[in-house]
Amino acid sequence: MRGWPVPPPKNPTKNKEDFRREREEKANWLIKQGYLKVGRIKEAMLKVAREDFIPPLYRDYAYLEVPLPLPGKEATISCPHSYPLFYEPLGLDKGHKFLEVGLGSGYGTALAREIVGPDGLVVSVEIDPLTFDFAKKNLENAGYHDIVLEKGDGGLGYPRMSPYDRICITAACIDIPPPLVEQLRSGGRLISPVLEQGVQNLVLLEKSEEGIKRRVICEVLYVLLRGTYGGL
Ligand SMILES: C[S@@+](CC[C@H](N)C(=O)[O-])C[C@H]1O[C@@H](n2cnc3c(N)ncnc32)[C@H](O)[C@@H]1O
Repeated sequence: MRGWPVPPPKNPTKNKEDFRREREEKANWLIKQGYLKVGRIKEAMLKVAREDFIPPLYRDYAYLEVPLPLPGKEATISCPHSYPLFYEPLGLDKGHKFLEVGLGSGYGTALAREIVGPDGLVVSVEIDPLTFDFAKKNLENAGYHDIVLEKGDGGLGYPRMSPYDRICITAACIDIPPPLVEQLRSGGRLISPVLEQGVQNLVLLEKSEEGIKRRVICEVLYVLLRGTYGGL
């Protein structure tokens, strides 16, 4: 979270209606800024209550464009704009089998569950046990009981359910972990922040029979990947 200002912890004061209004305003802002274009992703962002995935002392800041701290070592819930920023180029859509590396709060996972719909599947892996327990509780409280949640090193993927149509890594890596590229279906896409020459680039991979196409989308700032492929 280096580089991002963290607002001071405080007791929550906002009610459900305040948050509902802020959620709607945020979706409209994301549309105006050009982050949010896809109807299915907009519907998911309007439906999932982001505040329910944030620790009480930071809850009032739910719709600010800052990452907020979570239980665990360096875990954060990413800024609201990060989700369309990742999911739109990824082309996440209904029916997809989706693997997320870095469950965090569970918010992005809930959005993905809404986007892929009943014919899709969401699998998410989190390396930090405290963060994992926090997200699991958030998802259960929010009524999501059919997401495959795994505690472990997501750099190794989750081969049992592979291949995946889409993979999203929510922490920055030096190189995209090879097991994840292997577990991506031909025709599939993977998105990840990658540390290159002192900056983090958001990188999109497209896998096909001809090989892998790679495209940089923009510069980003994420917590670093841990585990086998963490490297730092
Ligand atoms: C930016 S946060 C994820 C935010 C999440 N998308 C959300 O909506 O709250 C990145 C997460 O990746 C986790 N992480 C880091 N390295 C990991 C690894 N090798 N496997 C699984 N999770 C990892 C961190 O513990 C952290 O929870």
